Amino acid sequence: MAILKVARLGHPVLREPALELSPEEIRSPPVRKLVEDMHATMIEYGGVGLAAPQVHESVRLAVIEFSGENERYRVDEAQPLWVVFNPRVTVLDEQTEGFWEGCLSVPGLRGWVERPRKIRVDYLDANGEPREQIAEGFLATVCQHEFDHLDGVLYVDRIADPTRLAFLEEYARYHASE
Ligand code: NI
Repeated sequence: MAILKVARLGHPVLREPALELSPEEIRSPPVRKLVEDMHATMIEYGGVGLAAPQVHESVRLAVIEFSGENERYRVDEAQPLWVVFNPRVTVLDEQTEGFWEGCLSVPGLRGWVERPRKIRVDYLDANGEPREQIAEGFLATVCQHEFDHLDGVLYVDRIADPTRLAFLEEYARYHASE
């Protein structure tokens, strides 16, 4: 396994729409290796999700995983490793929920983003098989954040109130209790 270099805000790869992968491509050794390396990279940097464009691979793949003990986010429930190819999101509840989001491609910052609180994800799993999963709350937000990366969208694009974008230190000092 390898720790991959993470593209940062300003790198064009983060703004390109990523390409779908076929089930055959998903099962291929290079893509399996990419999934392993993305998982290792996400763990190394303490992320809760990572999308392939963030490691300079413009394909529709994201990995999501978090425990209740994540260093960067306070989360109540755990999400075991979830590998998602070619996701399609259907909003099940238009009601939004807000979180202070961060991104390994936008280091050192947090911003308040509101997104639909309940979604269905139709996707291909790590074996290229079609699946669906319902996601709510924090997991729904992580999904939408990661899948936005596949369309070249970053969470900073979705901050409705620019006064709610902060460096981590100021976030912790002035906003963490909100
Ligand atoms: Ni991100």
